[in-house]
Amino acid sequence: MSSTLKILITSQKGGVGKSTVSANLAAYFSYTSGKKTSLIDFDHQATAGKWVKKAYPIGIDCKTVDLPNAKGSGIALLKAKEALRKAVEVSEVIITDLTWTDVLPPDFLFEFDLVLVPSSLSRVELDSTLEFINRFSFVFNSRLRNPPKLVIVPSRVDNLQTYEGIFSKSFNAGFFLSPPVMYSASANDFFGTEFFVMTTNDSIRENFIEFGRSIEQLGQIETDYRQNSKPEALTPKVSGSILDRFRAVRNSSQNPSVRTAANDSVKAAVSNRGIKSVIPSFLMMGRDG
Ligand SMILES: Nc1ncnc2c1ncn2[C@@H]1O[C@H](COP(=O)(O)OP(=O)(O)OP(=O)(O)O)[C@@H](O)[C@H]1O
Ligand SMILES: [Mg+2]
Repeated sequence: MSSTLKILITSQKGGVGKSTVSANLAAYFSYTSGKKTSLIDFDHQATAGKWVKKAYPIGIDCKTVDLPNAKGSGIALLKAKEALRKAVEVSEVIITDLTWTDVLPPDFLFEFDLVLVPSSLSRVELDSTLEFINRFSFVFNSRLRNPPKLVIVPSRVDNLQTYEGIFSKSFNAGFFLSPPVMYSASANDFFGTEFFVMTTNDSIRENFIEFGRSIEQLGQIETDYRQNSKPEALTPKVSGSILDRFRAVRNSSQNPSVRTAANDSVKAAVSNRGIKSVIPSFLMMGRDG
């Protein structure tokens, strides 16, 4: 079985940061982590693909695949799987950018180790994210097949206080919460010229590297598990005391303000909704109820 880490970045909602995260996460794996990385762009506009193709070449193998938009024909699925299969042969990490439109069956999600859903912390976007995740909870909660791990990526975050927005919602599937990708006014200027992980702007670079590292760690756990070499490394089924999870929140981020925000939100969530609430631990959340 291949050890290639397969990551899907998706959501139904437009403009949430999928392509920005896709292009820059590919750059993280290729440049920062030195892994053979492929980017597959399934979007019509191919924003992530264009970014990678125009920017300074750092060895990302980039494919743009236009999926037919006829629902239920099966051709889109064949094309998508074929693109993945080819990329697996030449890469250690595959990043896939896709706006979810129901052209592909939910089953397609099982092709991936991690499914990243970027979302701002605004009410409207969180509601849309919630709807998407709850609709596919049968995939993420599957016990018959090894399900992909669901990761919510707070994106374009300008205020860490709003973290609480996530913890106060009810999700039907357990999910991991990544460190936030912070809002940066110059993000648009980076398109097709530079990657967040390579910029001389310290805060943008360090923020994205922290994000990339957390995704890499989670991906490592998942591929290890899939290969059955280190099954003990898998701990996503939330266990341990609430206190353990507090500690996980506090300790996992190198950024003090992230730690504080996460910690405060945990306290609020626990005190507001009792132990049955979704109890977050940074990068890890359990099922509600
Ligand atoms: N971290 C960020 N800080 C500031 N602006 C951002 C950030 N991430 C994305 N943006 C901006 O938000 C807009 C949407 O981003 P992006 O194209 O990555 O989203 P998308 O989900 O791929 O959109 P689409 O649905 O159109 O494919 C762009 O103008 C982008 O520059
Ligand atoms: Mg896009």
